Amino acid sequence: FEVIVPQHPLISHWVSVLRDRDTLSHAFRSAMGELGRLLVYEATRDWLPTIVREIQSPMGSAVVESVNHLEPIMIVPILRAGLALAEFAASVLPSTKTFHLGMARDERTLQPSVYLNKLPDRFSKQSHILLMDPMLATGGTVAAAVDLLKDHGADIGQIRIISAVAAPVALKKLHEKFPGICVYAGAMDQTVNEKGFIVPGLGDAGDRSYG
Ligand code: PRP
Repeated sequence: FEVIVPQHPLISHWVSVLRDRDTLSHAFRSAMGELGRLLVYEATRDWLPTIVREIQSPMGSAVVESVNHLEPIMIVPILRAGLALAEFAASVLPSTKTFHLGMARDERTLQPSVYLNKLPDRFSKQSHILLMDPMLATGGTVAAAVDLLKDHGADIGQIRIISAVAAPVALKKLHEKFPGICVYAGAMDQTVNEKGFIVPGLGDAGDRSYG
C-alpha cells in the first residue's frame, strides 16, 4: 500500500489556491484541473504502457519509446467534484477512455450511493485505471468506487487513485480493504470532522466547483 504526495512547488501552489476560501468557483475549478494534470503526470511516471521501436527521423534511424495507443488509460472521475480534477487528464495522456461514475454521500449517514454508472461491462485485467476524486474523507465513497471497479473486472493492482486532499481515516479504510492499492494526493490532512469534512481541507469540492 502506498500513499504518495509528490513534492513539487506547483502542486503546493494549486493546493493553496484550492484551500483559500476567497477563491471563486471559476478559479477553483481551474486550480483543481491543474492539480489533476500534475498528479496524473506523477502517477503515470512509471506506469504507462510503452513500446520501443525503430523509426526514421529525417536524419536517420532512431530507437524510440512511445506510449502504446493500443492500451488506453481508463479514467474514472467520481462526479461531481472528480470532473474538475479530471478535466485535463485526457489532454496529458496520448490515449485514454473516460468512464463516469456519479456518487453522492448522504449528508446525515455519510453513506455513498451510486446514481450514474458508465463503467464498461468488463475491464480487462490489464486495464490501467485512474480513479479520480478530490476528497478522501471517511473513505466511504472511494472504497465503494473501488468495489464497483472490481465488480467490473478491474485488477486492484492496476488502479491508481488521484485525490486533492486525503485523510488518514480514508487511507486506513482503503489499506484494510484493498492492500496494494496506490494513492496519489496533493496533500494529507489529519482531521475529518463529525460532518465528514476534512479539516482544514478545502471545503465542499463539489459545491465550490459547481455552486
Ligand atoms: C464528496 C467528495 C467525495 C466524497 C468524500 O462528494 O467529492 O466524493 O464526498 O467523502 P467520503 O470519503 O467521506 O466518502 P459529495 O458526495 O459531496 O458529492 P459532490 O462531489 O457531487 O459534491
